[in-house]
Amino acid sequence: MLVTAEEMLKKAKAGKYAVGQFNINNLEWTKAILATAQELQSPVILGVSEGAGKYMTGFGTVAAMVKAMIEEMNITVPVALHLDHGTYEGCYKCIKAGFSSIMFDGSHLPIEENIEKTKELVAVCKGMGMSLEAEVGSIGGEEDGVVGMGECADPEECKKIADLGVTMLAAGIGNIHGVYPANWKGLSFETLAAVSEKVGDMPLVLHGGTGIPADMIKKAISLGVSKINVNTECQLSFAAATREYIEAGKDQKGKGFDPRKLLAPGAEAIKATVKEKMELFGSVGKA
Ligand code: G3H
Ligand code: ZN
Repeated sequence: MLVTAEEMLKKAKAGKYAVGQFNINNLEWTKAILATAQELQSPVILGVSEGAGKYMTGFGTVAAMVKAMIEEMNITVPVALHLDHGTYEGCYKCIKAGFSSIMFDGSHLPIEENIEKTKELVAVCKGMGMSLEAEVGSIGGEEDGVVGMGECADPEECKKIADLGVTMLAAGIGNIHGVYPANWKGLSFETLAAVSEKVGDMPLVLHGGTGIPADMIKKAISLGVSKINVNTECQLSFAAATREYIEAGKDQKGKGFDPRKLLAPGAEAIKATVKEKMELFGSVGKA
């Protein structure tokens, strides 16, 4: 069932686990993630970047596809359809398209402008019954054209944004989009603890979930993280499984070139990655 992220994240914060946001790119991605969530009885958030939305021809197509899949696959677990790292304009497009949740990424803006735009979107989302994620500090690296410097969030600024009434808050704590470099210093638990103390019950969001060691994930959850975003890791497993299928020459045998066969190993690999993350995040059986 399509829901906002509010209820599922409140439950996660209280229950000391996290809900995974897995980014989608096409039908296969969406189907694999929804099937895994249903099988594991886990709540799930489908993330859509502006680039992926464009790739799928627009947010309207994405919303229609997700809603139809939820119905035709008999998905009964809570599913939120969420804009990832949205611009101000992108947020309005997704509100119009029927998403249940959006992220306004004003982290690159001066804090006053971030506050002003977030405040406006809080009011709109409340009126529409949608959830809203805001960001303070920035996530390092690059994701779909969104580039961040990776500076840690200021806990005071986090409080200012949290007090506007957003549903969840992404705070930069040394996390990076994409594969972590060998010289990565790790998450700043000092920053996370300080932010957590300032924002109280507000569910915190950890971006750049690909490749963060399990012990750091667990510690982050214990300090108030209730939503963890994973994108690159599904892409890597999809690519590796597809490459293996092709390099083994399976696309040359029988009807192995049939897209339904060619894309199947990649879809299974996405399922395995999502399952592993849901188990690590503790969301299995929490639907
Ligand atoms: O917003 C999406 C994420 O933060 C995903 O990051 O690609 O490093 O897993 P990732
Ligand atoms: Zn992100």
